[in-house]
Amino acid sequence: MAQNWNPSSWRHKPIQQVPEYPDKAALAATEAQLATYPPLVFAGEARRLKKALANVSEGKGFLLQGGDCAESFAEHGADTIRDFFRAFLQMAVVLTFGAQLPVVKVGRIAGQFAKPRSSAFEKQGDQTLLTYRGDIVNGTEFTEESRTPNPERQIMAYRQSAATLNLLRAFAMGGYANLENVHQWMLGFVKDSPQGERYRKLADRISETMDFMKAVGITADNNPSLRETDFFTSHEALLLGYEEALTRVDSTSGDWYATSGHMIWIGDRTRQVDHAHVEYFRGIKNPIGLKCGPSLTPDNLIELIDVLNPANEAGRLTLICRFGHDKVAESLPKLIRAVEREGRKVVWSCDPMHGNTITLNNYKTRPFERILSEVESFFQIHRAEGTHPGGIHIEMTGKDVTECTGGARAVTADDLQDRYHTHCDPRLNADQALELAFLLAERMKGGRDEKRLAANG
Ligand code: PEP
Ligand code: CO
Repeated sequence: MAQNWNPSSWRHKPIQQVPEYPDKAALAATEAQLATYPPLVFAGEARRLKKALANVSEGKGFLLQGGDCAESFAEHGADTIRDFFRAFLQMAVVLTFGAQLPVVKVGRIAGQFAKPRSSAFEKQGDQTLLTYRGDIVNGTEFTEESRTPNPERQIMAYRQSAATLNLLRAFAMGGYANLENVHQWMLGFVKDSPQGERYRKLADRISETMDFMKAVGITADNNPSLRETDFFTSHEALLLGYEEALTRVDSTSGDWYATSGHMIWIGDRTRQVDHAHVEYFRGIKNPIGLKCGPSLTPDNLIELIDVLNPANEAGRLTLICRFGHDKVAESLPKLIRAVEREGRKVVWSCDPMHGNTITLNNYKTRPFERILSEVESFFQIHRAEGTHPGGIHIEMTGKDVTECTGGARAVTADDLQDRYHTHCDPRLNADQALELAFLLAERMKGGRDEKRLAANG
């Protein structure tokens, strides 16, 4: 076990991004109540994910992580969850084919509620109120009452996470995620997309592979891996009081696990090595993520890895890089070189969302071309360094929203007002997300062909 650590040792460290709850006694009572509730996930599942991520770190898998920037209480419907899962699985199939590797599927869901903010206050007209910090903390409505942090919301977030996870487990194991279904949905997308012709070649090859498997007798009826799928949950573990209440000892190993989700990550604003979030994370055994932004130096990173993964365990640490399309070429190579020089085992993942946010017509948005460009650079840099581009991390929804510009249906700056529903950052809509998967798969396949030619030539 980590030395001098316990689930509340973070309370003695400086902390960023914490809400000020006016009623401390009510907060303590809520945390005590949460501590009596059942875990949302089990240690054995977190270990299984860690093993899958260990494969990714060795170049034998690809991580797909995605979901809402912030889940909301208002949009907690079966449709929202189903549509997300549908889009996400289609992306996974396309990427599996592109990478010719198993895709590890991790949603930003069933717990993604707490948000770090760049400003503690928001001003509208001559009124200044506390900023919105996610539904687990306060409400979006611009009133004093709604913006006051309310501990009861933690109980609501826990219940919503449990219900969401329950439905996702049913979808993943109960037949809905059957590969044949996913294949049919994907063909529907290709048929309707204005760029369909471009994707058809890859889609046809997937169809042929499916036909071939059927011909040799591999079907969903006789093969569970075609009718079920492994699906894991993740979120930014920002609200440490909530996380502490759900931190439990695994009876089989005696180790501490965060049971609020399978994988949790540290945000770019809370990764100070001697602060509370790093302290909490060092003691739990889950696979964890660390957001890496442009201000992270190679020395900082190695110091953080020393604390977060002292045993250099493969699969423990995923570095989620979010530099921006124009900064990735400067920021990423030096981090890769430091990690390689020190022989550290990590999964390299690319979050092409958070460094590419701009404002258009008063809406926060992200141009699709910049998102694609950051992932492409990420792939090229890894190819040049001889390391494995292990995954992508995106903000997306299964709904037809207009929050990011561009894509085949070309959402314009003027379209943003039509269906701009996010509570926090702009997400790719279902078509844009799937399109990104097709474009990446195309490039991964291109990269493999190049390698093969070089090997044969
Ligand atoms: C996020 O993933 O929603 C987020 C806030 O990211 P970052 O910490 O990288 O800014
Ligand atoms: Co976000």
